[in-house]
Amino acid sequence: MRRAANEQAGHHEKPGPGQRAGRILRAYHVALIEGGGVSVAVVTRGGWAAEEPLGGAGAGLRRGWGVSPGRQQAIACTLQGLVPGAGRLSPARLQAVTGALVARRDLWADLVVHDPDVRWYLPLHRSNSCDVWLLAWECGQDTDWHDHGGSSGSFAAAEGCLVEQYRAASGWRLSRRQVVAGRGVAFGPGHVHNVAHGGSGSATSIHAYSPPLLAMTYYQVTGYGLIARETVAIEGAEGARGRGGAETALADATAAAAELRSDALPGGAQGIDELLAEARGGLERMRPDAALAALTDGAALVDIRPLEQRIVEGEVPGAIIIGRNVLEWRLDPRSDARIPALARTDGRIIVMCSEGFASTLAAASLRRIGLRRATYLDGGFQAWKAAGLPTRPAQSLG
Ligand SMILES: [Fe+2]
Repeated sequence: MRRAANEQAGHHEKPGPGQRAGRILRAYHVALIEGGGVSVAVVTRGGWAAEEPLGGAGAGLRRGWGVSPGRQQAIACTLQGLVPGAGRLSPARLQAVTGALVARRDLWADLVVHDPDVRWYLPLHRSNSCDVWLLAWECGQDTDWHDHGGSSGSFAAAEGCLVEQYRAASGWRLSRRQVVAGRGVAFGPGHVHNVAHGGSGSATSIHAYSPPLLAMTYYQVTGYGLIARETVAIEGAEGARGRGGAETALADATAAAAELRSDALPGGAQGIDELLAEARGGLERMRPDAALAALTDGAALVDIRPLEQRIVEGEVPGAIIIGRNVLEWRLDPRSDARIPALARTDGRIIVMCSEGFASTLAAASLRRIGLRRATYLDGGFQAWKAAGLPTRPAQSLG
């Protein structure tokens, strides 16, 4: 699935493979440059495997990945002595990396694309110990709040100005600092921040991470502070800008990763689509108006959405809030942790999530533990709201 590179953040109960794809830095695991020698990661059906050494700059490298083989080699030479072949770089060392590349405009300046619609980025370098990116920023563009999956990092402004809001790993207080051209900052593995374009005019920056980014968690700013929203794996770059077209190593890698052979799965294993279809086969499909009627007739609406989602989307007045992770324990008539009024085999439970996917599986699970009348709200909270039925802001006292 391809998504627009400027897709807005949002929680989805039915995560797509490209979810939030445009917001994260993608296109890893392809070109590895180690110790001045260039190599290419070989992708097999089972995933990423051996590296294929290259004889010289450019030999064997496929065109289209990030920067040209010659430029990859030049960047590796520039970073020689700063970037070891393996191991973790300190924040100070990472700052030296971004500083060194900011000073070498000849290696990247002609590549930069400033686009008012999409925050543009390009991978410059990757080794087993760190990866380096070139980013371009226009007014209004930012990263959203995120961490770096345990990696340390640094970024330096090469042109223009960036503004970083950040939270210390051990604190609640949010701070803010400007990073102007020629300056850089570094951070450790617990760093959570939101980097935005600052000032007037375009900005360009160099970013480095160690170990290379593999996952990032995005956060929601709430009245309770920053709450983790979702973790995304760094994935291949389908359709991402700045990396060439379909005939690239990245495109091949993405396609290979997508071609999962059936014999790699345990026999009888169901995909999520089959699981959903099976669950729905045994459930009454309850649209919002029917659910409303059922509620007036003694049914209970159980909202399994997480807090941050209820804060963003709102609530249904009178719905009972039970986290998905404890749902069965609260509703199993045999459970010590049950809610007695609800944990009844004859009770009519209507499970609600945001869009009606997670609630399907939850309702099917409730049926398996004996709540034979459990079902789900078709279309979830979104359909309820679209039908004009009562909602209110989360945590409302009114
Ligand atoms: Fe970041």
